[in-house]
Amino acid sequence: MFFDILLILITITLCFVIFYTWNYDYWKKRRIPYESPIFPFGSIKDALLLRKPLGSIIHELYYKYKDYKYFGIFFGRHPVLFIRDPELFKMVTVKNFNDFQDNTASMSEKSDILGALNPFILKGERWKISRTHITPAFTSLKIKQNMYPNMVDVSERLKMYITKNLDNFSNGIKIQNLARDFASEIFTLCGLAIKTDAFEDSKNPFKIIAHEMFETESFTGILKFILMIVDPAVSLLLRTALMSKTAVEYFRKVIRDVRLQRKINNINTNDYFSYLDKLQIDNADFSEDDLASHIVTLFIDGVETTASTIKLTMAEIAANPRVFKKLREEIDRIMVKYDNKLTYDALRDMTYLDHCISEALRLHPLFMFFMRNCTAGSFQFPPYKDGVNRDVKIDKGFSVLLPVYALQHDENLHANPETFYPERFSDEDTKVQSKAIYYGFGDGPRICLGMKYAQLVTKIGIWAMISNFDIVLNEKSKYPIKNAGPSFIFVPEDEPLLNFYKRGEIYSR
Ligand code: HEM
Ligand SMILES: *[C@@H]1O[C@H](CO)[C@@H](O)[C@H](O)[C@H]1NC(C)=O
Ligand SMILES: *[C@@H]1O[C@H](CO)[C@@H](O)[C@H](O)[C@H]1NC(C)=O
Repeated sequence: MFFDILLILITITLCFVIFYTWNYDYWKKRRIPYESPIFPFGSIKDALLLRKPLGSIIHELYYKYKDYKYFGIFFGRHPVLFIRDPELFKMVTVKNFNDFQDNTASMSEKSDILGALNPFILKGERWKISRTHITPAFTSLKIKQNMYPNMVDVSERLKMYITKNLDNFSNGIKIQNLARDFASEIFTLCGLAIKTDAFEDSKNPFKIIAHEMFETESFTGILKFILMIVDPAVSLLLRTALMSKTAVEYFRKVIRDVRLQRKINNINTNDYFSYLDKLQIDNADFSEDDLASHIVTLFIDGVETTASTIKLTMAEIAANPRVFKKLREEIDRIMVKYDNKLTYDALRDMTYLDHCISEALRLHPLFMFFMRNCTAGSFQFPPYKDGVNRDVKIDKGFSVLLPVYALQHDENLHANPETFYPERFSDEDTKVQSKAIYYGFGDGPRICLGMKYAQLVTKIGIWAMISNFDIVLNEKSKYPIKNAGPSFIFVPEDEPLLNFYKRGEIYSR
């Protein structure tokens, strides 16, 4: 009896190991350089044991195989093609997009219905339909008419809030908190047309949900993001969710309330909510949850991302007085030109501000890397090295990794890559290359859907702070800022602290 059970256990274990390691010769068979897998971790042992951020391992691999255009690695049991060559990067994201349409990140509709309908997660035809639904809501005109006034309004409140707390903030404030409140307020106004007070109210529900969704301090918080990218199938199996059931229910309720209010009061505006409402009336197959998911997309993809971009850009500017002064000069000059009114056009004219944001996202891209699934029957990659004349075939269902952070930090592609130097995006001799090798918002048909919105929010937030206060990096803050995010999202090692002073106290007026 005992031996029977033992035998069964051994057989099961063996079958599992054989199944698990089935593809461990995938790259060997294709005769390309590859990082040998270690059972059961593949090539990312230290990341899966939480000893090192995944981003750091990817960065090291990028340099270890620097003589090749691509090479093979393993995420757990899955072979992944690691792309190094910038041209192949463009090929996957833009030129041959149809062959690599899908992100690998997945989410079960059973565990998180609203997260699962996010365009970032949706695959194939459903992704296309979702994008065609939501894209018209983010045209320049719609943003300018329906969203921009809200942004200006919240920037005024940000200024007032900082002014009120200036004594305290001169000893250092986590810029993350200010930026999150700012972005969250703009979301509730633009997405739901409700006015809350995230700045003063520490119990603001949207703020709390945003925080709990992206926290990576707890073990489950970390696991969620690692699995989502390293083994989407297991992630699905474990039903990991971005949003808790309570958060989903909260959103559903708020949306019902907004809709009811609008009906009762016969409100007929032309905002994001009413756009989605009309979409539902015009499309029989557009469900209540589709509407909710589009609202939530603006929330999930729009609050922490813009907050993080504001935070990192502000920290870089505060740490670089030369940039601070130059940006202040630009802002002042353009405000004079527009009679001291922050019009949409005035903001558009602030191009140095644009370059500061791009440069912050070059140094600290929100997504350290992208993962795409090969959706073609199979795909031929050109030889892995000049001088080799053998294409390499990748099969449908296997994924490729696009190392955004590594490319943006490669000294062969960007001069002095570790320096915060916004002018690289405007200097004649570097601007073309800098823009070509920059993926702060991605590229190709899957480029960030909310880019225009995000750029405006970020610019207005930074404008409000730089034009009204003198700001320096607190001496306790670590600089340069390094990534400690365990998965694919950039998270700084420690949250930057900024000291705020009255304008004129540090820099001349
Ligand atoms: C500064 C803030 C933001 C940054 C840095 C950012 C960055 C990105 C990046 C890098 C991607 C991946 C692109 C790719 O795979 O090629 C992405 C995708 C996406 N972003 Fe953003 N984003 C920001 C704000 C927003 C906002 C405000 C929205 C609001 C709607 C949004 C909606 C999306 C969506 C829906 C996708 C998935 C697109 C798709 O896969 O088709 N993002 N974003
Ligand atoms: C400054 O901080 C102290 C202690 O955290 C707090 O009691 C005080 O109310 C704050 N001042 C303002 C103006 O918020
Ligand atoms: C990749 O695509 C294949 C089919 O095209 C699918 O079976 C597989 O689940 C996808 N993998 C991921 C991680 O999305």
